[in-house]
Amino acid sequence: MSEIILGIESSCDDTSAAVLRDGVMLSNVIASQKVHENYGGVVPELASRAHQQNIVPVVSEAIRQAGVKKEDLTAIAFTRGPGLLGSLLVGTSFAKGLAISLDIPLIDVNHLHAHVLSHFIKTDEESETPHFPYMCLLISGGNSQIVLVKSPTDMEILGQTIDDAAGEAFDKCAKVMGLPYPGGPHIDRLAAEGDASRFHFAKPRIPGLDYSFSGLKTSFLYTLRDEKKKDPDFVTKNMADLAASLQRTIIEILIDKLDKAVKEYPVKEIAIGGGVSANSGVRQAIADFCAKRGIKAWIPERRFTTDNAAMVAIAGAFAFRNGERARLEMPPYARVTI
Ligand code: KG4
Repeated sequence: MSEIILGIESSCDDTSAAVLRDGVMLSNVIASQKVHENYGGVVPELASRAHQQNIVPVVSEAIRQAGVKKEDLTAIAFTRGPGLLGSLLVGTSFAKGLAISLDIPLIDVNHLHAHVLSHFIKTDEESETPHFPYMCLLISGGNSQIVLVKSPTDMEILGQTIDDAAGEAFDKCAKVMGLPYPGGPHIDRLAAEGDASRFHFAKPRIPGLDYSFSGLKTSFLYTLRDEKKKDPDFVTKNMADLAASLQRTIIEILIDKLDKAVKEYPVKEIAIGGGVSANSGVRQAIADFCAKRGIKAWIPERRFTTDNAAMVAIAGAFAFRNGERARLEMPPYARVTI
């Protein structure tokens, strides 16, 4: 009998629902919240309210697009954390209510596990997936981690950021350049036209496999401040070169630690995940890094890099097969690593 899992994601500013049959994606509906654009960042209270409005139509649409009935569902997987508590409460409460009404199992999913496992979403029966153990560079707006993935339910963090995440470095530097939130995709677009060797920013010297991005942010800020004193139009005149130089520096920081990690933990496959893995420069750098070392690179389709429920459903499917179930009294959690 086939296993049909509904995934629900509401940890930040995307309300998403997806249906997977035996790991094959039948639908993946995402309602992105535009309301935050005017504020230069996600406003938690507004996010919760938007999730509340979106959750019923998004779930209904995911079930409709999948061509199944809600009575056909085997189980419901939902993101329990980490994320914004008010946002998580919407998805968690909805998932619990639906599971009770359908009398089917409920599975709680760690959002970070879901990003790491996004490579197992099959778009058709033939889709290939990674082999364990593999290494995952998880780079998003809230996290930057090097994870050793031993099995779908056994992951070890080898290193992680001690301050800002890679996505924050993109977004905060973009903000001082006057670009809209989130700035990552704008930097990516501008960088394609710029000279990446033009500007030099500080790089961290953190021992081990941990990351740090706050020094780069400060150094970027100081460069802009000093140059603007000499020429008030400095930023507008040098947008592309600034973006390209910033992107190059972030990539160098990411690759430097990954290089150390594969020396310590030789693996045959490396995957990337999280919003920053949508970045063209990062994708190319990882592909080159792996090609040079004879390592298989798993670069996700762009639609699976940012928050989506298909990754929650696949992580839920693994947990379901492993016999894991969520209890109704389990509350969402704002913080946790992996
Ligand atoms: O995984 P994600 O959707 O969720 C959070 O962690 O919240 O990641 C969002 C992050 C943002 O910082 C955004 O700027 C970044 O991913 N991002 C990018 C690109 N697309 C999204 N950063 C650089 N280049 C991109 N193309």
